[in-house]
Amino acid sequence: MLARIIGTGSSLPEKAVANQELETLVDTTDEWIKSRTGIEKRHIAVTETTTSMAVEAAKHAMKNAGVKAEELDLIIVGTVSGDMCFPSTACQIQSALGAKNATAFDINAACAGFLFGLSIVDAYIKSGRIKTALVVGAETLSKMMDWKDRSTCVLFGDGAGAAIVKSSDEGILALVQGSDGVRGSALTCHNRAVNNPYVDNGFKTDYTKMNGQEVYKFAVKTVPAAIMQAMDKAGVSADQVKYFLLHQANIRIIEAVAKKLNQPAEKFPTNLQECGNISAGSVPILLDFMNQEGKLERGDLIVLAGFGAGLTWGAAVLTW
Ligand code: UT7
Repeated sequence: MLARIIGTGSSLPEKAVANQELETLVDTTDEWIKSRTGIEKRHIAVTETTTSMAVEAAKHAMKNAGVKAEELDLIIVGTVSGDMCFPSTACQIQSALGAKNATAFDINAACAGFLFGLSIVDAYIKSGRIKTALVVGAETLSKMMDWKDRSTCVLFGDGAGAAIVKSSDEGILALVQGSDGVRGSALTCHNRAVNNPYVDNGFKTDYTKMNGQEVYKFAVKTVPAAIMQAMDKAGVSADQVKYFLLHQANIRIIEAVAKKLNQPAEKFPTNLQECGNISAGSVPILLDFMNQEGKLERGDLIVLAGFGAGLTWGAAVLTW
């Protein structure tokens, strides 16, 4: 049995913040942000939370797939910005949906979170352990930004994307994943420091810090290699692939990957212009945009790829 994506959904905060608005917060310009990243605006949570957006995205995906809550055997959420340390976002979604038959847990693979979740679901389905799963990528990164640091706060956005995955004769043909913890310091956000009655280290909130160039170099080298590896495993050539849906971090990274794969830019759809980088949310939100726009037809070969903090990366080749 293969694992097939049979429905998608997404949810974005109502408030959209254009680059020009950020010019009033930090020393930046619309021109810098657009030319260096392609981003024009991003959605920022005001009333929404990671869980509320994840639940909304999940409901849309279930409706799109025609799947009821009781049918879900597994719920996996890729997130680094859950509302609570515990219970997990996945357990909160389970409760909100009434998915009483599901096992639910979160994974932290940052911007590769959706791909890592898909990989776990793929293994569960192939082993015959489950039939139907919900995979979500959901983030409220705005709460983890230093809004005085122009090198990070202009890049990220909030939102959630979800997919229903079901056992089928068609679906995910190949998946590759990888991690490089040695280079993890290139993109970090510290959690609470050790603080208890025996030590007082004056805990201060920490924010996202990134060595942009290091992450950029990692992405343009690792992502095409992972995609090629996945296509090899699937026995598929790049020319046969209809769309490559990549993590939406930077238009220049996407263009570089297209060039390395010798494929036209049109095969690499983007929504970073209006969403920015939503970490684990990027890939499933883009997939849902494409699905809602009717751009995906049954039988199309699609590549999904994510990469980010960890460092982590993942790529999947699938039949729609
Ligand atoms: O989702 C996880 C994966 N993340 C990524 O894939 C991100 C990968 N990295 C990138 O996308 C790019 O490296 C960035 C978009 C983050 C930065 O672009 P860059 O072309 O690598 O710029 P840079 O960091 O080399 O900075 C160039 C200049 C610096 O000024 P000096 O030192 O040349 O005077 C920065 O201080 O741009 C300055 N700068 C800014 N200027 C205006 C940095 N941020 C800003 C800003 N507005 N927002």
